[in-house]
Amino acid sequence: MNLRTFSYFKAALFVLCLLPLARAVWIVASGGAVNPIEFVTRSTGTWTLSFLLITLAMTPLRRLTGRPEPLRLRRMLGLYAFFYACLHFTTYIWLDQFFDLAAIVRDIAKRPFVTVGFAAFVLLIPLAATSTDRMMRRLKRNWGRLHRLVYPIAILGVLHYWWLVKKDLTQPALFAAALAVLLGMRLWWRRRRRSA
Ligand code: HEM
Repeated sequence: MNLRTFSYFKAALFVLCLLPLARAVWIVASGGAVNPIEFVTRSTGTWTLSFLLITLAMTPLRRLTGRPEPLRLRRMLGLYAFFYACLHFTTYIWLDQFFDLAAIVRDIAKRPFVTVGFAAFVLLIPLAATSTDRMMRRLKRNWGRLHRLVYPIAILGVLHYWWLVKKDLTQPALFAAALAVLLGMRLWWRRRRRSA
């Protein structure tokens, strides 16, 4: 793909990534959600996890296709994961907890699924803050080390989902399976590289 076509593709993808937000706004505004707060919390949570996994899929996709484009999209997709995480967290502290700091701290300490979700969110902050080219150059090799945090973050995200679901575990199990494949591929390639 030449550079011009790629920049059109990236711009189209940028807009496409905003569709989950537009859809949620549309559904809530048109009265299509029985419980709007729960709906927005769940929708933004699902998209945070989805974007995390899509971001993690870029390196295997690069290896499997031999094309450079997936890696050039990785930063934008990762920042979208952070964007949806911010919306998710904001919904929680604003519409769910009404900015009651003491209640938020209590909830984070008391409910394990909130604890791990919060941990994942906090760990995402340094990744988003160091996503610029300048930070990449400044941190040198440490940038790669720091950004390996994305693996525990994704694991915590899946655990958060797994623990909050009370009955049907199908959806979190699908996310867990996708994450296991993505991490498994990386481990397999690393082993092969070491034994070569
Ligand atoms: C990277 C960080 C996070 C990810 C990937 C994530 C992901 C998710 C997912 C997938 C859901 C379930 C959506 C569904 O039911 O379809 C969810 C729900 C929820 N999350 Fe998160 N979350 C994160 C951070 C947080 C944080 C920081 C908080 C609050 C401190 C939080 C609080 C909640 C709550 C209250 C629910 C709804 C639970 C319910 O419906 O009973 N999450 N999240």
